[in-house]
Order: sequence, then structure tokens, then C-alpha cells
Amino acid sequence: MPAIPNYQHLLETSRRVNWRLEDLLGEGRRLDFTRPFLPETFAQTEQLGFLSAAEKLRLNQIRARGYLALFELFEAIVVPFISDQSDHGKQSDPFRAPALRHFVEEEQKHRELFSAVLHEFDGAFGTPCGLIGPAEEICRTILGHGPLAVTIAILGLEWMSQGHYLGSVKDNQDLDPQFSSLLKHHWIEEAQHAKLDGLVLRSLAARSAPQDIATAIEEYFEIGSFLDAGLNQQAGLDLESLERAIARRLPDDDRRQILDVQHRALRWTFLGSAMANRNFLAVLASISDEAAVRVEQAAKSFTTH
Ligand SMILES: [Fe+2]
Ligand SMILES: [Fe+2]
Repeated sequence: MPAIPNYQHLLETSRRVNWRLEDLLGEGRRLDFTRPFLPETFAQTEQLGFLSAAEKLRLNQIRARGYLALFELFEAIVVPFISDQSDHGKQSDPFRAPALRHFVEEEQKHRELFSAVLHEFDGAFGTPCGLIGPAEEICRTILGHGPLAVTIAILGLEWMSQGHYLGSVKDNQDLDPQFSSLLKHHWIEEAQHAKLDGLVLRSLAARSAPQDIATAIEEYFEIGSFLDAGLNQQAGLDLESLERAIARRLPDDDRRQILDVQHRALRWTFLGSAMANRNFLAVLASISDEAAVRVEQAAKSFTTH
């Protein structure tokens, strides 16, 4: 397992690699709707042979919109939670609070970035796309769990976003360059967030009894089931968005197939790929071997075919 990072080093790195919103938005940096936005690993449109190439492209872009919108929503959970952690308790490391505050500022900037891109998307796409919600209720439900469980869920999402960029976006030449650039810049800053979350998890776990860690894992699975129900609902909304975009109602059999394939694709994107992430599992194993084994086993139930 790689060396454990420290707050000072992560704060210095995050200041060095930090970018500004104006570096990514504006004239000359528009989405190109003739290209796919999301890698096929996550979009899973090729299985849907009854859709034309143009219709698959529309579905890919609807899924990409959902990808950004759901990340924006997750970051709405991260901001108050990490903010709270940065104030919390008497910590001996003087770099802890500044590093976590910087983390929160970056997540706020990511939310702004994603909102601006979603606004551009909606103006150019032409038909409305649905999103699960209300966001406040989803945030409240997730934040209603214990801090150890919420940290594990956030850690999974952070490492997942790292894995998505490196494994499926970085070397993919088919994708729209602007969408790839957004994910690249997000990845650059999230790399520090994932490690900071690992430190937060370790310090919380060090103050917890083994029984509390076991309870947190149960709660983590509860959060996963709650998200999965949301993703199922999102698959239905994406189908409706697709039918609006292509201006036709699909036959019932095709609709059923889209719902099935897309729910599995969403599950893999947001749950399975997090639970199977080696870095996430390594940090989890550092607080509980049993938890890591359980999460890794559960990840095997998520497949896209
Ligand atoms: Fe972020
Ligand atoms: Fe993040």
C-alpha cells in the first residue's frame, strides 16, 4: 500500500494545481453535440441495437448530463460535511483545517462549474432532461447517517471519479474534447480530495470502537441502497428525456430494455465502480479488513451485461 499522505503536502499540492473557472468556460470552449460525451463503459448505448446511431448519441449525452448533475448533487453533500469536519474536534495537525477548508472551496467551485455546464447543455440540447430530487431531500437523507458512514460513501465517490477519468476518459479520443477537459480538471483537484478523505476516515476510525465501524459499514450499504433506488428512478427519467429528444415514443419492449440496461449502467457508474476501486478498498481495509472484503464482494453483483 502506498505511503499515507499528510495534510501539509496535500494542501501544497492542491494550491499548486488549482485552476480557475474562467480557464474552462467561455467562448471557444463549448460542448460539441456531434460527439459522445460519456465513455461507453458508463453510457452503455451500444447494447440498444434498436436505436439509430443518432438516437444512441442523444442517449449518451443525456447520460452525460446526468453524470454532471449527480456529481453536482454529491458535492452538495461533501461541502457541509467536510466543512463540519474541518471545524471538528481538537486536532494536533495545524495543516488539517486549512487543507479541509481548501477542499471545500474547490468543491464549491466544482458545483459552480457543473451548474454552468448544465446551463449551457440545456440551452443547446433543445429538450428538457429530468433529474431525481429534490436535491435537498437526497442530501438530508445521506447526511442523516453517522459521520463514519458518510465519510466512507464520499471516499468511494472521490476514488471512483479518479478511476473514471484515468480508466475511461483520459485516452479516449472519441469523446467531446470540452467534456473530457471538464473531467480532467475535476480529476486534477479530486486527486487531493480522495487522499484527504482517507485521512478524515482514518482519524474518525481511530476514535471509534470496532462495533461503530461495523455499524458504519451497515449504514454505508443503506446509503448504497438508497442511491440505487434513485438511480432506478433516474433511468426512467432518462428514458423520458430520450423520447422527448428523439420526438417518438418507443415500443414497450424497447422501453423495458432501455430501463434494464440503463439502470445497470447507472449502478455500475455510481456504485459498482466505486466499490470495486482498488484505492478505495485499500483505505477501507486499513480501518477494517472485513469491511473491505464485504464491499469488494458486493461490487461483483454489479455488471453492465
Ligand atoms: Fe469535485
Ligand atoms: Fe470531490
